[in-house]
Amino acid sequence: MTFYRAQETIQVQGYTIPQGATIVPNIWAVHRNADVWDDPGKFEPQRFINRESDLSGKDSKLIPFGGGRRSCVGLPLAYRTVHLILASLLHHFEWDLPQDSMENGLDMTEKFGLVISMATPLKAIPNKCGL
Ligand code: HEM
Repeated sequence: MTFYRAQETIQVQGYTIPQGATIVPNIWAVHRNADVWDDPGKFEPQRFINRESDLSGKDSKLIPFGGGRRSCVGLPLAYRTVHLILASLLHHFEWDLPQDSMENGLDMTEKFGLVISMATPLKAIPNKCGL
């Protein structure tokens, strides 16, 4: 996460951003904007299948890697490896949840902070390695 500093006093949608102000972009809120995304709280990865996605920061509606001069330098590596890592883990193991989660479902409550994490950390148990 990058903190930005306003080089001069500017107006953005009626708000005054004073020179020198520290700015922390709220990417969480951008990605949950109901004006842009249908049912933004729903986990629905297939919504991206037919979307012409430019993750470089030019498409301000979808900025998981930030944007501008301080955007993520690891984007090309992440773009090529994240799905491979996930697919390998899913392919080679069978995954279980702890008994409590199996019976009561996952607690998806979020813990607020500089990054949003799960209030109850996810525990996934790998077994039956297929390697
Ligand atoms: C899914 C994977 C990743 C995501 C979602 C991600 C996301 C981000 C975000 C949101 C930023 C802040 C950008 C901004 O403020 O505009 C950032 C910065 C950065 N990321 Fe990543 N990142 C990922 C993977 C990686 C990897 C694999 C590397 C290195 C190998 C990396 C290295 C960096 C560095 C060095 C910065 C700071 C860039 C700067 O301040 O100029 N990231 N990343």
